[in-house]
Amino acid sequence: MYTTVNGIAMHFEVHGPTHGQPLLLIHGFPLSGKLWQPVIPLLQDQFKLIVPDLRGFGRSELSHHVEPGMSVSTSIVQYADDLFSLLEAIGETRPMVVVGLSMGGYIALEFYRRYTSQVQGLVLADTRAQADSAEQRRQRYATAQRVLDEGSHVVANAMVDKLFAPQTSSELREQWRELMRETSRESVASALLAMAVRSDCRLLLEKIYCPTLIIVGERDVITPIADAQLMHRAILASDLSIIPEAGHMTPVEQPVLFAAALQRFVKPQAGEISSSR
Ligand code: MLT
Repeated sequence: MYTTVNGIAMHFEVHGPTHGQPLLLIHGFPLSGKLWQPVIPLLQDQFKLIVPDLRGFGRSELSHHVEPGMSVSTSIVQYADDLFSLLEAIGETRPMVVVGLSMGGYIALEFYRRYTSQVQGLVLADTRAQADSAEQRRQRYATAQRVLDEGSHVVANAMVDKLFAPQTSSELREQWRELMRETSRESVASALLAMAVRSDCRLLLEKIYCPTLIIVGERDVITPIADAQLMHRAILASDLSIIPEAGHMTPVEQPVLFAAALQRFVKPQAGEISSSR
C-alpha cells in the first residue's frame, strides 16, 4: 500500500488484526521493510504489524524530485516525522510498541523524543545511543561521496559480511547484498549523511520511562553487545535479550528467537507490556 507522507509516496504494509496491539517495525540501513518478513508470520496472529519502507528505501520515494547523482538532504528527525505522519494518514493513533533495528533504532529513539505519548513500549534491536565520533562522521561523508560517484554496491559489498554471524549461508548473504545494491545511490548517500549528524541519545535514555526491550545478536560486530548493555544500564525499565548465533540481522538470522523475545515483552491478551526491572 502507498500513502502520501510529507510530499513523498510512502510504501507500507499492515499485517494482523485491525484491533490488535500495534507494533511499528522500523528497518535498518540500507534495507527495507523486507527485513521483517521472517518474523511477520510468527507475530501476525497476535499483533497489528505496521511495516513501512523508510523514505528512499524499498518502494518509498526519497523526494518528489531526484536527479541521478543528486545529494538529497534528509535526517533522522525527518524519518521519524514521516512515520508519525504515516500513522496519522492511516488513522492509527493508539500508543504503540515501536521496534527499530540499527538505523531504525536511531529513528525509534528520535520518535520517542518527539512523540513520547505515542510510545507504549520501545524495542531497540542491534542499535546504539551514541552519536558518531568525528572519525566515523568523516568516513560516512567519504562513503556517501563514493556511493554517489560509483553506486550503492560500494556499501552493499562493504556491509554484507559484517551483517551476519559467521555461520550464515552464502545464499542468504547474496540475497541481502542484492537488496542493498538495488537501493538508489541517492537514498544510500542521504541516509549516510543523516546518520553522520544524528543527535547523541545517551542523555535521552535516562528519560525513557516506558518499558523497553533491548535485543542484540551475540555476534553483532556493527553494534556490539557493549552498546546494548550501555542502553540497558541507562534505561530504567529495560530488559536485555542476547540472541545466540546471530549477528546484526537478528530478525533474519533467528526469527523464532526474535519473535519469542517480543512475545514475552508484549503480552497480547492483556495488551500489557512489561520489563522485569
Ligand atoms: C544499520 O544497520 O542500520 C547501520 O549499519 C547503522 C550504522 O551504520 O550506524
